Amino acid sequence: MKKKIMEAEVLSNTEIAPGIFRMSMYVTEAAAAAVPGQFINIYLNDKSLILPRPFGICEADASEGTIDIVYQIAGQGTREMSEAERGTVFRIAGPLGRGFDLTVFSDEISGTGASGRSAMIIGGGVGCSPLVFLAKTLRKMGINTTAVLGFRKEKFLVDEFRNADCRTLVTTDNPDEDSFLGTVVDCMRVTEAEADEYFACGPGLMLAAVDKYIKERADDSRLQVSMEERMGCGYGVCMGCSIAVKIKDESGNIVRSHRRVCSDGPVFKGSEVIWRG
Ligand SMILES: Cc1cc2nc3c(=O)[nH]c(=O)nc-3n(C[C@H](O)[C@H](O)[C@H](O)COP(=O)(O)OP(=O)(O)OC[C@H]3O[C@@H](n4cnc5c(N)ncnc54)[C@H](O)[C@@H]3O)c2cc1C
Ligand code: FES
Repeated sequence: MKKKIMEAEVLSNTEIAPGIFRMSMYVTEAAAAAVPGQFINIYLNDKSLILPRPFGICEADASEGTIDIVYQIAGQGTREMSEAERGTVFRIAGPLGRGFDLTVFSDEISGTGASGRSAMIIGGGVGCSPLVFLAKTLRKMGINTTAVLGFRKEKFLVDEFRNADCRTLVTTDNPDEDSFLGTVVDCMRVTEAEADEYFACGPGLMLAAVDKYIKERADDSRLQVSMEERMGCGYGVCMGCSIAVKIKDESGNIVRSHRRVCSDGPVFKGSEVIWRG
C-alpha cells in the first residue's frame, strides 16, 4: 500500500470537554475520499515524535474540503496538537483503513429497500467520534438508528447524534437528568434495545463486553467493531498493529491468524476478533 502525505491546515481547534479537543482541518483530497470508520495519521511538527498519530474521522465535508477529528490529550503528540492555532499546518496521510461495511444496508443504498431497517451505534469516550460520521451517513440512508454513548464524567458530541436523528441514550459515572448510571452494556440490557446491525467504537474492554452481550442474544457477525492498537507505519508494512483473529482455512476449519488494524481494519466483525482476557 502506498502512503500519500498531504498538508492539512487547521481551521479551528476547540476544547469541547476537559482535555478533549475537536480539530477541523482543510484538506480537500482526504475530505472527498473519506468514508465512516476510516482514520487519518497526523505527522507532528515536533520532529522528535517520529511516528504518526492515528485519529478516527469524526466528520468529512467534501463540499467544504474539511475533516474534523476529536482527540483526547494522551501524551506529547496530542499535547502538541492541543496547542495548534488556526493556520497551523500538519502533514497527514489519509483517509486510511477500511471503514464500516454499509453494504449490509445495500437495499437502502440503492433506494429499493423496505423501510424500517435499524442500526445501533455504541460508543465509549473519544470512540464516539468516528460514530458521528457514521450516524450522519445512516441518516442519509434512511436507517432507523439508536446511539448508546458511554462517558466517564463529561459528555461530549451527544447533540451531534441527536441532530442526526438518532434515538440517543447516554451513560456516565456521574448521571443527571439526561444520562443513566452504568456502562453501555447496562444501558442496552435495561432498555432491551435491539437492531439489525451493530457498530461499536471505544476502549477494548468495552468492545469485548459489547461483543459478549450481543453473542448472548444474537449473532456477533452482526456487530462491527472499530479496533484500536498501537501503530508504527500506519499503512500495512510493519505489522506493529496486528490483532489476533479467527479465520476459515482452505478446508473450512476455524484457525487463529493475525490482521493489521491499520490496513485490514480498523473495522472488523465482532465474530472475527479473538478478544483478550
Ligand atoms: C485507528 C485508531 C484511531 C484512533 N482514533 C482516535 C480518536 O479519534 N481520538 C483519540 O483521542 N485517540 C484516537 N486514537 C488513539 C490516539 O492515536 C493516541 O491517543 C495518540 O496516538 C497518542 O499520541 P501521543 O503522542 O499523545 O501519546 P504517546 O503515548 O506519547 O504516544 C506514543 C506512541 O504510542 C502510540 N499510541 C499511544 N496510544 C495509542 C493508542 N491508544 N492507540 C494507538 N496508538 C497509540 C502513538 O501513535 C505513538 O506512536 C486512535 C488510535 C487508533 C489506532
Ligand atoms: S502500523 Fe504498520 S502495519 Fe499497521
